[in-house]
Amino acid sequence: MTTEQRDDSARNTVFGEVADLYDAVRRDYPAELVSEVLRYADPGDRGAVEIGAGTGKATVAFAERGVPIVCVEPDPRMAELLRRKTAGYPGVRIEQAGFESWERDGRTFGLLFAATAWHWVPEEVRWDLAYAALAPGGAVALFWNHHGVMDPEMHAGLAEIDARYELTFTPHTMAGWNMSDTIEPPDGDESVWSSQEALMRGRFTDLRDLRFKTPVHYPTKRYIDYLTSISAYRIMSAEARAAVQAEVAALLDAHGGGIEMVTRSDLLLARVV
Ligand SMILES: C[S@@+](CC[C@H](N)C(=O)[O-])C[C@H]1O[C@@H](n2cnc3c(N)ncnc32)[C@H](O)[C@@H]1O
Repeated sequence: MTTEQRDDSARNTVFGEVADLYDAVRRDYPAELVSEVLRYADPGDRGAVEIGAGTGKATVAFAERGVPIVCVEPDPRMAELLRRKTAGYPGVRIEQAGFESWERDGRTFGLLFAATAWHWVPEEVRWDLAYAALAPGGAVALFWNHHGVMDPEMHAGLAEIDARYELTFTPHTMAGWNMSDTIEPPDGDESVWSSQEALMRGRFTDLRDLRFKTPVHYPTKRYIDYLTSISAYRIMSAEARAAVQAEVAALLDAHGGGIEMVTRSDLLLARVV
């Protein structure tokens, strides 16, 4: 489902260890994606709640459009950077908590959004919590940035390294895409919505599944820094991380000193019935 599956209870606290690096190397979300969310669900005065706001990559994009936002973020180190980055937006309020223990105090919102964070909230509670947090007609917008490696040879080389280190769901896991490919939302069992629908129990409607693509070139060092911000690498020992990253760096250097990728931003939208 994502490059960062929630499979370890300690894994969701790893980002704060590298909050500044995280903020420097993670991709922003496309402006068209933000526009699409606001076209679908303009929250108006009811404002938005953002789950897992992190360092504010999505927060700032929505705050710039004038959306009042309550940010729910459990990690104090991420929240500290978020506080600094949103200091110029009086409509942004930060509440340090995980979604499942957040004190909502009866507030409801016109929009609930989560950027590369929904998978960290336990599946058994998140739809009940989302439903309770939304005003009638309110909307959910969930989005993630994924990467595809353009060069098949590079993709195969990286897959071989991942296999030796037993790494899954790295940024280069997905097969290559080109900017000219049409990337349709996946069908059947692969559809994120179809796997979630039972949990939404008929309380959400007007489901949409959209894709946005942006090309990106990572020079070797930037790609290694990016990998350092990914949970799969954060939970490795420092020695193993250094070893796998040295191999990835050598491969990229042997291919001209970097990697060409496509960022695919997946957006899921739904509205309260
Ligand atoms: C991959 S980061 C995404 C941060 C930011 N939204 C972004 O797009 O860069 C995931 C974030 O979810 C937060 N998180 C983890 N578990 C959470 C939970 N149970 N409730 C809310 N947020 C959570 C983490 O602290 C982290 O800041």
